[in-house]
Amino acid sequence: MMDEKMIKAINGQINAELYSSYLYLSMSAYFDSINLKGCSSWMRVQAMEEQAHTKKFYDFLTARGGRVILSDIKAPPSDWDTPLAVFEHVLEHEQMVTGLINGLMDLSLELRDHATNSFLRWYVDEQVEEEETVDGILQNFRLNADNPGGLFMIDKELVQRVFVPPTGVTL
Ligand SMILES: [Fe+2]
Ligand SMILES: [Fe+2]
Repeated sequence: MMDEKMIKAINGQINAELYSSYLYLSMSAYFDSINLKGCSSWMRVQAMEEQAHTKKFYDFLTARGGRVILSDIKAPPSDWDTPLAVFEHVLEHEQMVTGLINGLMDLSLELRDHATNSFLRWYVDEQVEEEETVDGILQNFRLNADNPGGLFMIDKELVQRVFVPPTGVTL
C-alpha cells in the first residue's frame, strides 16, 4: 500500500496535469480568436497530452490501491499580449511542472517508494522533452519576429503536430 503522503501528492499532481490541459485549451482558444490555426492545433494536441499525463497518474494510483480524488481546477488566463508571449508562458509553465515532478521524485526517495520512483522516471524524461520542444519553438519565434511572413511560416509548421498517446494510456 502506498504512503498517504504519496497518495496525496499524486492527487495534487493529477490536478496540476488537468490544469495544464485546461491552460493549453485556453491558449488554443486564444489562437483561434486571432486566426492562427496552426498554433491553435498545436495547443490542442498539447492539451490532449496533458490529459494523457493525467490518466497515467490516475491509473498508477488506482493500480497501487490509492484513491483518486478530483478537486477544483482553477480557471486559466484567456488572453495574452502576443503569440510569442503565449509560448513564453508555456515554457515557464513547463519549468514549474518540472519542479513539481522533481518534488514527487524527492518524496519517493524519502519514502523509499521504489515503485513510484520507477514510475516517475517517465515524467522526468517527458519534462526534458517538453522544455526542449517549447524552447525550439521560442527560438523560431525570435528568429522570425521581424520577418513579415515569419508568423505565417511558424503557424504552417505547428499545424503538422499530431497527438500520439503514450504507450498503455487510453483517454
Ligand atoms: Fe504534463
Ligand atoms: Fe506538459
